[in-house]
Amino acid sequence: MLLVLGAPVNITKAQSRKDKLIDSLLKVMTIDEKIGQMTLFTSDWDVTGPTMRSNYKEDIRSGKTGAIFNAFTVKYNRELQKIAVEETRLHIPLIFGYDVIHGHRTIFPIPLGESASWDLDAIEKSARIAATEAAAEGINWTFAPMVDIGRDPRWGRVAEGAGEDTYLGSKIAAARVKGFQGNDLRNYNTIVACAKHFAAYGAAEAGRDYSTVDISENTLREVYLPPFKACADAGVGTFMTSFNEINGVPSSGNPFLLKTILKDEWGFKGFVVTDYTSINEMIPHGFAKDEKEAGEEALNAGVDMDMQGAIYYNHLKTSLSEGKVSMDEVNDAVKRILGIKYDLGLFEDPYRYLDAEREKNEIMRKENLDAAQDVARKSMVLLKNKNEALPLRKESSIALIGPLAHDQQDMIGPWSAAGDWKKAISLYDGIRMKLGSDAKIVYEKGCNINDDSTQYMARAIAAAGKADVVIMALGESAQMSGEAASRADIGLPGMQQQLFNEIIKVGKPVVVVLMNGRPLAIPELDRNANAILETWFSGTMAGAAIADVLYGDYNPSGKLTITFPRSVGQIPIYYNEKNTGRPFDANNKYTSKYLDLPNTPLYPFGYGLSYTTYKYSNFNLDKPYFNFNDSIHVSATVTNTGKRDGEEVVQLYIHDVTGSLTRPVKELKGFRKIFLKAGESKTVTFTLHASDLTFYNSKMKLQAEPGQFEVFIGSDSAEGLKGTFELAK
Ligand code: BGC
Repeated sequence: MLLVLGAPVNITKAQSRKDKLIDSLLKVMTIDEKIGQMTLFTSDWDVTGPTMRSNYKEDIRSGKTGAIFNAFTVKYNRELQKIAVEETRLHIPLIFGYDVIHGHRTIFPIPLGESASWDLDAIEKSARIAATEAAAEGINWTFAPMVDIGRDPRWGRVAEGAGEDTYLGSKIAAARVKGFQGNDLRNYNTIVACAKHFAAYGAAEAGRDYSTVDISENTLREVYLPPFKACADAGVGTFMTSFNEINGVPSSGNPFLLKTILKDEWGFKGFVVTDYTSINEMIPHGFAKDEKEAGEEALNAGVDMDMQGAIYYNHLKTSLSEGKVSMDEVNDAVKRILGIKYDLGLFEDPYRYLDAEREKNEIMRKENLDAAQDVARKSMVLLKNKNEALPLRKESSIALIGPLAHDQQDMIGPWSAAGDWKKAISLYDGIRMKLGSDAKIVYEKGCNINDDSTQYMARAIAAAGKADVVIMALGESAQMSGEAASRADIGLPGMQQQLFNEIIKVGKPVVVVLMNGRPLAIPELDRNANAILETWFSGTMAGAAIADVLYGDYNPSGKLTITFPRSVGQIPIYYNEKNTGRPFDANNKYTSKYLDLPNTPLYPFGYGLSYTTYKYSNFNLDKPYFNFNDSIHVSATVTNTGKRDGEEVVQLYIHDVTGSLTRPVKELKGFRKIFLKAGESKTVTFTLHASDLTFYNSKMKLQAEPGQFEVFIGSDSAEGLKGTFELAK
């Protein structure tokens, strides 16, 4: 019996068809078959965590696993799907998951980089292309977007998210879900998304991956949860639990998170998968005494699918027979999982994502590469540009120095799916492609990324001496950020700082091109370089995109979405901090400050320069106060005062001056990316409602409180034009 259904006619009919099919399956499924649907195993193709078992083909055949990850290509996934639909009793199709994070074959900038574009359309498009390529290779489920707020740059996984801000992070989260899932999951080029890691994984103590999280419910709800809520509202099909505990309860055993908030408050109808073996990890957490108990905690908390842990697989049947978990919980989980398989159209045609022709045509198309180059350019942030050192003149002779200057492997960054680094464009090749045969460019590595060898330094110094301009490509290797890649020192690794210091002594203009997955503490670069361009890991088209920016074919418009500290000692550091009772005062010792460093960051949230300049003027509020049913309009005029056309991200921040609970010194509440021709002015108007001014009070009620607010419009979080208004009772 192969379950084949015709196309749904309308929503209600489709819903009843879906319910009918799933209910009829639930009636005939054995306990083992149900547990099989709740079990996800990795194939042996790719390793994204500790491997545990590899007999997955047999498990598919016996109905003991209904989901596989780390498997792709039409040939391979067709082979596995065939086993599921032709050799199992109920012919239920598999769902194939994979970490399609920033591109599948065509690799886009790392998500932190993409977020610096503040361009929601470009971000959505990047996810759309990633989904199209992944779907063409048999994947129907991505473990993305990662929407963890990252306030600690020691944590390597800030590379995978959208930075430190909740408002911007929520907008980007929704854009990514829309990009992956499109309008209809049944389309052959859409895949179901997964909001991860639920929750507060980024609040790990000391920035150490997998570390403890201890957090107030207010901060959890206000700072860490809204991007997840934005995913749920955008219709995300799945959620992934996080590895960490929160206030003593690991996320995979946390009914408050998974049931109270996600499934009840937010009404989430999709399914919850664990992170890799995180049910098992409740034992070392000290939360469950053995695997069986861990499985019971997980199911009772609301975990529907066990990733790779084989806990449900090995123990759930016993737990059911002992009455430790109920059949209702199991049925609910299976229903949710089958529901997503149905939504993907897999019951209708289990092979719909397995078309060899499409696989040939969709991968790394020219338009995919063009889009990757476009987003890469938009993601770059110009951090310094003294005396207009950039853009470069094409006639200048260049010494291209640094361990990342002719590197392909690191350009695709961490979590680069099925990306092939050999197809990535190095900076050296990007510049040569731009300048053609006239290029006057010498490349010297200078040092390795992260060791103490000095053997290449002398040649690099000599090359610098002979060139008009030095470009230094410095930073981290791709593997120094992402999972299990926390760093206690976030300066330049290895001998790179020494190399930079030596090159500076040569006396030529030095342009630093940074490549990294997190903010770096680089005060000496800021002091001595002529220009600094942050390029993150910008993907397959990295070198071409960087060359576009260096030579002025693209005017940089990116703005930081995460604060760059001066030193690791300032961490955690983020723009929306609290004021304290003794805010900084240089003339008063007994105020909140360091003896050895300013409080301010090296580069604040929202910061980024351009090859042109912008002036903000005519700040206006249309009224001095408004009430709960009304709104207020805040506007400013932005003028491009330089000689080049450019794009500016205009940012709106508020400060709730007094509350029943203290509020941050600034909170982003709006932004607009505008294009301005040289000399052109535009007035940007934002509308604020009472709902934009809300926070969770001590009774955990989301509400705005009447009183005074400051409002700022500016080009970053540190400065801006300011006004005040009142929210009246
Ligand atoms: C990571 C997840 C990822 C999963 C599957 C885990 O180690 O934390 O983000 O989706 O592996 O590869």
